[in-house]
Amino acid sequence: MAVQRTFVMVKPDGVRRGLVGEVVSRLERKGLRLTRARMLTIDPDLAARHYAEHTQRDFYPDLEAFITGGPVLAMEWEGEESVEVVRALMGVTDPRKAAPGTIRGDLGLLVTENIVHGSDSPASAARELGLFFG
Ligand code: RTP
Ligand code: MG
Repeated sequence: MAVQRTFVMVKPDGVRRGLVGEVVSRLERKGLRLTRARMLTIDPDLAARHYAEHTQRDFYPDLEAFITGGPVLAMEWEGEESVEVVRALMGVTDPRKAAPGTIRGDLGLLVTENIVHGSDSPASAARELGLFFG
């Protein structure tokens, strides 16, 4: 067990739908601490760096258009095993398959518009926090 920092983002669909408070509230109620936050609109260069592992995938043009399509809330959250804890609270990538009780399972329907991002490992968290807050 170790206190970790993780990168979490409310994606453009979540901001547009007024779900910032819902996402923040769920993480706060879990016991995690919000330590940094920033509203911004992601440009194509930052999108490609953030999603470097996906830029060659067939879905990337749709992902880029979506993630650059409106403001996001970028955040750093701290807590015990926060990387894994946030991923569990989010649910799996496709909201139709995400379990009820998770953010994506309760609030989403489309795989691109899946409301929230959370780092998938401590190494990803360090890289992504550097991109958005470095
Ligand atoms: P994220 O990075 O956005 O938090 O999501 P994730 O870890 O759950 O999923 P990842 O595999 O990293 O995929 C990144 C984003 O790409 C879109 N995606 N579309 N059409 C598809 O098959 C497909 N697969 C992935 C999703 O919006 C996903 O969040
Ligand atoms: Mg991912």
